[in-house]
Amino acid sequence: MTRSPAGAVVTGAGRGLGRQLARLLLARGYQVLVTDVNPASAQEAADELGDGATALAVDVRDQAQVEAARDAIVSRAGRLDVWVNNAGVLVTGPAWEQDEAGRRLMLDVNALGTINGTVAAISAMRRTGGGHVVNIVSLAGLTAVAGEAVYAASKHAAIGFSLSTMADLRLAGVRDVDISCVCPDGIWTPMLHDKLDDPGSALSFSGKLLKAEEVVEAVRTVLDKPRLVTALPGRRGLAARLASLAPRLGLAAAPLVVARGRRTQKRLLADLRQRGAPKA
Ligand SMILES: NC(=O)c1ccc[n+]([C@@H]2O[C@H](COP(=O)([O-])OP(=O)(O)OC[C@H]3O[C@@H](n4cnc5c(N)ncnc54)[C@H](O)[C@@H]3O)[C@@H](O)[C@H]2O)c1
Repeated sequence: MTRSPAGAVVTGAGRGLGRQLARLLLARGYQVLVTDVNPASAQEAADELGDGATALAVDVRDQAQVEAARDAIVSRAGRLDVWVNNAGVLVTGPAWEQDEAGRRLMLDVNALGTINGTVAAISAMRRTGGGHVVNIVSLAGLTAVAGEAVYAASKHAAIGFSLSTMADLRLAGVRDVDISCVCPDGIWTPMLHDKLDDPGSALSFSGKLLKAEEVVEAVRTVLDKPRLVTALPGRRGLAARLASLAPRLGLAAAPLVVARGRRTQKRLLADLRQRGAPKA
């Protein structure tokens, strides 16, 4: 018997991909808690999304705030069915050029935030007949990424944690809770809007930039059929995995891939300047 949709939470849903994922969940009939560290953007997103969406300020680095979000959706919707760990931050450049605060921020938001959300969600889902945690990771969780080393470390941590926790759930006999990791290539969201002039983020531009809607579509697919790891697009996921299997080859290819990304950045920047258009 399939249940009718109850509650869902999306972190980092004030803008970018998260806002679109909240829209997807609303369209599927969930009551959605739109959370973000930025209270104004969470509220604006919930207002835009309309009926069924409520805003809550949540910093995913803070376990107590994450648990408060879980409790809020359970008391409102009766049950937590879906939790999307989407909040993320990207600071580019070689690790030795970043300050400690920047490195810590990425690990705290991208890795610890994903852990906090997953743990909080699982405890509610286990009590109420199961559910699905969707973790928005990145191709940077599958391979080396020049210019984004600490970001890649944080995303590798998110994948390692997710797969290990799935193993723990199954070993504990829990079969009605799933965790799916979605690993996109570069997406044209505000995260990359100010990075066209930034050589550190060239690798994010080395493929064909994804539209947020393409990632939403991948999440729609895993909501119907949970999948441990979905790389997006598949061809780039395969290249990332091959580069990981043969790290020397990956290292040798890095200058070419970075150069390709720089060319795309420059082309996009020139296009935008020519059109005098806003970047979004
Ligand atoms: N844009 C890309 O190229 C790309 C590629 C692969 C994966 N991703 C991942 O997709 C997810 C969404 O990214 P996006 O592109 O929409 O970025 P974005 O910067 O547009 O949105 C990220 C959101 O996370 C929120 N956030 C930041 N710190 C937070 C915290 N401590 N607690 C709660 N919320 C916080 C921000 O306020 C923002 O609303 C991230 O996990 C990102 O790493 C992005």
